[in-house]
Amino acid sequence: MRERLSVTRRGFMEGMAAVAGGLVLSPAAARAAAVLERQGGGPAFTGRPFAADDYDSYAKLAANENPYGPSDTVMQAMTSAFKYANRYGYPDGNILAEIARFHEVDPSQVLLGAGSGEILTVATLALLAGGRKVIGVDPTFHTVYQYATGIHADSIRLPLLADASQDIPAMIRATRQNWRDVGLVYLCNPNNPTGRIISARDVKALLDGIPEDVPVLIDEAYHHFVEDPSYASSIPYVKEGRPVIISRTFSKISGLAGMRLGYALAPRALIDRMRPHSVASINAIVKWGGVAALKDTESQDRVRRVNNELRKKTAAAVQAMGYDVIPSETNFLMINIKRPVVPVIESFKAKGVLVGRPFPPMTNHLRVSIGTAAEMERFMSGFKQLFSA
Ligand SMILES: Cc1ncc(COP(=O)(O)O)c(C=O)c1O
Repeated sequence: MRERLSVTRRGFMEGMAAVAGGLVLSPAAARAAAVLERQGGGPAFTGRPFAADDYDSYAKLAANENPYGPSDTVMQAMTSAFKYANRYGYPDGNILAEIARFHEVDPSQVLLGAGSGEILTVATLALLAGGRKVIGVDPTFHTVYQYATGIHADSIRLPLLADASQDIPAMIRATRQNWRDVGLVYLCNPNNPTGRIISARDVKALLDGIPEDVPVLIDEAYHHFVEDPSYASSIPYVKEGRPVIISRTFSKISGLAGMRLGYALAPRALIDRMRPHSVASINAIVKWGGVAALKDTESQDRVRRVNNELRKKTAAAVQAMGYDVIPSETNFLMINIKRPVVPVIESFKAKGVLVGRPFPPMTNHLRVSIGTAAEMERFMSGFKQLFSA
């Protein structure tokens, strides 16, 4: 996949370098970047910006990225959109209407974000203001909790069950007990960092078990990798008019993490509550990339197939060495390494392999993203050196 992309990618990167070349961070932006970095949300979620040469030399298995990058058709769409780089107003490929059409919803039920991270932020700001509570599990993707803290809202974080699945009955109980104060229930499905799905039956049990006006944000960032037949997207609930917000991203299956595009689907009343908090910072180029990516199901199928094969192969190899893995339906895998992960992360880094940060309280687990076949070989070779008896 990488070879076939090289020509168009070069043209595109030259364009990006020209646009970015003159940028210097203002003191405020530098401070914000430092804060973000300390929170673990900095470059590549690994804590430190890299020099370009260093960066290229690493196997980057820390941030659940798509190692293949955007497909040919997406690259072509973005490259030809560069002619709008100097404009505020420009044709945008009708990205909003295209997303609406793809999911068979009304455009008023769609909100774009600069990555689905922005959607999580916007939902938090809209629904938790005034000290309302978010209910979810821990560990999960932390953006909602981080922003809740930032606006002095509380979170009720429930532990995962022993098999690392989400405790739906406990979430129902916590929501009922606190329902006057609950602004939002957050479900990450499949969950990051564990990779486990919540079955369609359990999602329904949750929605039917809580007061019907409590909004539920269902983060489907890894939806496209799932094969387990007991899982289903929760988009039909939006169409039924239930107070459900679905967040989706082009960062994972479509390989556009650095370009920043995601979206929410929700009933219009919820989108209208969220919209004032959106900063609409999406660039012209990725809008065209997103339109092309939506239609490029062939490349999505290819990425899913290769990723899932490599994930199963990696899981089997570490299991054969006596290490349990949590069943994952995503582009990452959590391995119980039976010892503290922090020094192991450093040992992998010394071998040129970046793996996921610690996810307390699961500090004896290592999260590894699924990279290319060559990157997974580097990971396995490091794993064998570190973990053979
Ligand atoms: C569960 C989950 N949601 C949302 C995001 C944010 O992704 P993005 O902002 O690139 O769409 C991530 C990123 O890793 C994630 O793991």
